[in-house]
Amino acid sequence: MERKSHSSAKRGTVILAYSGGLDTSCILVWLIEEGYDVIAFMADLGQKEDFEEARKKALKLGAKKVIIKDLQKELIEDFVWMAVKADLIYEDRYLLGTSLARPCIVRAIVNIADETDAGFVSHGATGKGNDQIRFELGIYALRPNLKSRGLYETPGLTILREAHLDLEALCMDREVRRIKAYISHKMADQVYNGFWFSPEFEYAKYCIDHSQENVTGQVQLKLYKGKAYIRSRSSPRSLYNQDLVSMDIQGNYEPSDASGFIRVNSLRLAEHRRVLNETQKLTS
Ligand SMILES: *[C@@H]1O[C@H](CO)[C@@H](O)[C@H](O)[C@H]1NC(C)=O
Ligand SMILES: *[C@@H]1O[C@H](CO)[C@@H](O)[C@H](O)[C@H]1NC(C)=O
Repeated sequence: MERKSHSSAKRGTVILAYSGGLDTSCILVWLIEEGYDVIAFMADLGQKEDFEEARKKALKLGAKKVIIKDLQKELIEDFVWMAVKADLIYEDRYLLGTSLARPCIVRAIVNIADETDAGFVSHGATGKGNDQIRFELGIYALRPNLKSRGLYETPGLTILREAHLDLEALCMDREVRRIKAYISHKMADQVYNGFWFSPEFEYAKYCIDHSQENVTGQVQLKLYKGKAYIRSRSSPRSLYNQDLVSMDIQGNYEPSDASGFIRVNSLRLAEHRRVLNETQKLTS
């Protein structure tokens, strides 16, 4: 991806998202052979990695410089909390761990490219997964201008999501929760497909943020055999009214209030039955 460059090197400077692995090491050497200066970039997202070893390796292979950035706080504050607020889950099973890390890394790379006046960015993510798309769409979104290390186990997110869903059930109006679930579904698609820096994501984020204004409290979970179980919950904004759901205390509820509702709806159900009868007569 080309940008204007003032580098003295023959073809300019490339920021390479470097993993220390074989793929990105080959890319590093190839870029140098092609006449570029290479700055290797590594993101510390809390993964078990010997960064010093990787730094040595990159310098030995000819990198001009190695930048290692601790992005753990940014990842949690700017990306993971959003996923928790939105209860993000893709196709009912994937908590989008790597999809959340991608825009975080992309943002850091673009900042480094600005600081170093590099003309290019490079990564080792292939088109096989969606990581190449996430990476490059992110770059284009931030500047109208990675070896993918997939980690698909996200125990922290699993626990937070369970607790947060439970709290929402306690604090959020049922109909609000339904609309929110729809937006959350859309947002999971956006994140999965690499559209974090897009207008539709901005809009979904706005709605999700607003939906959280009354969601606060405490949830206790028990972790057992790879699963999280809710033990207790409490909230100063709880919508749960013991008196209203109790069979013993009448509260403000009047049984006669229900008769109009039943009449209106039974009419619809009887109509449905009549149409079914007619069709059955026609087909028999
Ligand atoms: C939060 O609570 C206030 C006060 O009950 C209510 O007016 C508001 O609609 C609630 N917000 C959401 C998003 O449900
Ligand atoms: C539908 O058919 C059943 C049995 O044939 C009958 O008892 C019922 O009254 C019918 N319902 C309507 C709405 O026509």
